[in-house]
Amino acid sequence: MLVPMRAILDAADKNDYAQGAFNVNAVCQAKAVINVHEMFRSPAILQGADLANGFMGGRTDFANATLEDKKAGAKNIAAAVKKYGTDSRIPIALHLDHGRNMDSCIAAIEGGYTSVMIDGSSLPFDENVELTREVVKYAHERGVTVEGELGVLAGVEDHVFAANSTYTNPLSAIEFFRKTKVDALAISYGTMHGANKGKNAVIRKEIAIAIKECMRHEGMEGYLVSHGSSTVPRYIVDEINALGGEITNAYGIDANQLIEAGHCGINKINVDTDIRLAVTRNMKELFARDAALRNSASVGAIYELLEKNKSAFDPRVFITPIMDTVMYGNVPDEDVARICQCI
Ligand code: G3H
Ligand code: 13P
Ligand code: NA
Ligand code: ZN
Repeated sequence: MLVPMRAILDAADKNDYAQGAFNVNAVCQAKAVINVHEMFRSPAILQGADLANGFMGGRTDFANATLEDKKAGAKNIAAAVKKYGTDSRIPIALHLDHGRNMDSCIAAIEGGYTSVMIDGSSLPFDENVELTREVVKYAHERGVTVEGELGVLAGVEDHVFAANSTYTNPLSAIEFFRKTKVDALAISYGTMHGANKGKNAVIRKEIAIAIKECMRHEGMEGYLVSHGSSTVPRYIVDEINALGGEITNAYGIDANQLIEAGHCGINKINVDTDIRLAVTRNMKELFARDAALRNSASVGAIYELLEKNKSAFDPRVFITPIMDTVMYGNVPDEDVARICQCI
């Protein structure tokens, strides 16, 4: 059952936990994510990023995806989530991750997303407010949840509450919620996107606590989101590198800190990198033990891409030879089916 993301975050907030939100880039991944959540009888948040929509619209050079590509991708992934989620008894939200502008959000909503993020975090505060308000107006009229972002994730400093800090200022966060009526807010509190988060990244949970306390005091409602929250498991990185990969300086967020954050007002935890690493590991393992697959007419090209891009772990770099499956889910042969099991 597809629901607006707000319903899932509301349950998390009331019961003092954080809901995982997992990025997908292919229809077979949507199926896998739903299956795993069903196993745990948990609600599920699946998210497709702006670029992911471009990719799932069939653009192998997804960085240059047009609005039409994104619309097509949103339609594809939403149809898959509906297909796999219809008979499911868990609530499922499909969320646009890091929407760049109004058009990206409209493309996602028209495609069937039940939630969108508008990432105005690189804009000056007032412009971020204005853009986010515009998206909130459009989305809320259609029953769609909105996540905004305030603060810059990279470049972490020590002075948490200083005026020039890149961490989210709690008072600005309150003002942002009040002015935009956004449902959820991504904050900068020590996490970072990607596989190189630094050796001892510290979540400054006091930022989340301060925002939540102020909101409670003011009688306001709103949910907080932790981006850049992959744990980057050492053993997966080691397995990739043992198979010829070259992933260096890889460090994630300690899982115990994430669990703790869930009790400090964080209601959603975004994970993408860990999935990308696991997919890369899975494919390398499969090819390593099967010479016939390495020479397969349908997927041998994937093996060549893996060999050529040793430091990459974005599966979109590798799976372009099976775009038809990625886009529409139709699996033409046994070899492609085996690769899909990795994704
Ligand atoms: O936070 C960013 C996500 O990991 C999505 O990445 O824009 O490459 O799809 P992407
Ligand atoms: P990671 O790169 O840590 O997986 O973060 C993902 C994310 O924040 C998606 O929005
Ligand atoms: Na998001
Ligand atoms: Zn993010």
